[in-house]
Amino acid sequence: MRFCSSGSEAVHAAIRIARAATGRWKVARFEGHYHGWLDTIYIGESPDAERPAAPAAPGTRGQPRSALADVIVLPWNDPDALAAAMHIYRGQIAAVILEPILCNTGVIPPRPGFVEAIREWCDRVGAVLIFDEVITGFRVALGGAQSLLGIRPDLTVFGKAVANGFPLSVVGGRRDLMEHIASGAVLHGGTYNGNLPAMAAARATLDALSADGGAVYGGITDTGRSLMDGLRRAGAEAGVPVLVQGVGPVFHMWISNRPSIDEPRTARTEGRSSTRCSPRRCCAAACGRSRADVVPSPPPTPPSTSRGPCAPRGRRSRKCATLCRPSHRVRTGTRRMIQGGTAPPWPSECWGRPFAPNDSGIRPAAPATGATS
Ligand SMILES: Cc1ncc(COP(=O)(O)O)c(C=O)c1O
Repeated sequence: MRFCSSGSEAVHAAIRIARAATGRWKVARFEGHYHGWLDTIYIGESPDAERPAAPAAPGTRGQPRSALADVIVLPWNDPDALAAAMHIYRGQIAAVILEPILCNTGVIPPRPGFVEAIREWCDRVGAVLIFDEVITGFRVALGGAQSLLGIRPDLTVFGKAVANGFPLSVVGGRRDLMEHIASGAVLHGGTYNGNLPAMAAARATLDALSADGGAVYGGITDTGRSLMDGLRRAGAEAGVPVLVQGVGPVFHMWISNRPSIDEPRTARTEGRSSTRCSPRRCCAAACGRSRADVVPSPPPTPPSTSRGPCAPRGRRSRKCATLCRPSHRVRTGTRRMIQGGTAPPWPSECWGRPFAPNDSGIRPAAPATGATS
C-alpha cells in the first residue's frame, strides 16, 4: 500500500502503476464516474456515448486536450460498448478504472454481471482493473464495494472515510504491481504522503469500524435504509413521485416516475434531483422539516427534442446542444429498462437491505518513472 493525501493523487498513482506494468498508455473509464480533478483523468461529457473513442473531451477550461489523448470513455452498464472498446483497442489498454458502485452521478449500482464482465475483459486483454473506492471504501462495507460485489480488482484506491475526514488516501493491490513503486521504477512522491496525524486517524477509524467483526455496519446500513424509506414515504404522502436508489448509507433521490435509473445521462437530467443523501448528510425530507423545505419546485421542462425552441446553433448552451443531438434522442428513446421496466436491474441488496459486513483484504520514457509518457 502507498499513502497520499487526496483521492485524485491516489488515482493518479494507480494509473501510473498500471501504465508502467503493462507498457501501455490507454485508460478506459466510464461516463458519469469521477476520479478526481487532475488533467489526465478529469473529463467532460462524451460527444457520442454510442461510440467510445479516445481522446476524451476536457472537462474544464485550462485542461489540455493532450492530457486525455489516451483516455477512452465508455457508457456505464453497457456490456456491448465495453466489448467493442476491448476489441478496438486490443493490446493498448493499460487499465480500466471505475467506481464499482457509481456514486458520483446519482447512485447507480452495476447491472448484474457488468463488473464481472469488466473483470473478465481485463484478464483477457491483460489490462489492470482499478476500483476507485474513494466513496464506497469503508462506507458500504468494511471490505468496500468489492466485498459486496465479490470481485477482486488488481488495484484499489481509497480516500474520504478511510481516515474519517483526515486527509489520507491509499492505493494498494497486487504485490507484483505495487512492486513497481517499491523498486523505484515508478515515482510516487508527496511531502505529506503517510503523514502521521492522518495515519493515526486511519488506524483509529479502522479499529472502530472493524471492532466486533464490523458490527457497526449493521447500524450504518439500517440508518441508510430508514432514510431511504423515509424519503419514499414522504414522497408518497406528499403525492410527489420519488425514486430513491442506493446501497447501504449512500443513496440518491430523484423526483421521478421511473422505476429505476441505470445510466448516468438519465441520472443527470431526470427531474430535478435533490442532494445526495447519507446519514451524515441527510436531506430535509427525512428530518421532518416542513414540506416547503423538502419538496423542490417542479422539474424544469426538458429542452424540446425538436429544433424549434432551441436557440440558433451558434448560441445554444452546451447542455441544449447535447440534448438536441439526434444520437442522444435515439439513445434515450431506446434505453431498455428505462421505459417502464418493473424490476430494478441490480440485486435487491442494492435497494437498502443490509449487507453482511465482509472483510475483503485488498491484494498493485526515458521518462524518470516507468509510467510517464
Ligand atoms: C470516486 C472518487 N474518486 C476520486 C475522488 C477525488 O478525491 P479528492 O477530492 O480527495 O481528490 C473523488 C472525490 O470526490 C471521488 O468521489
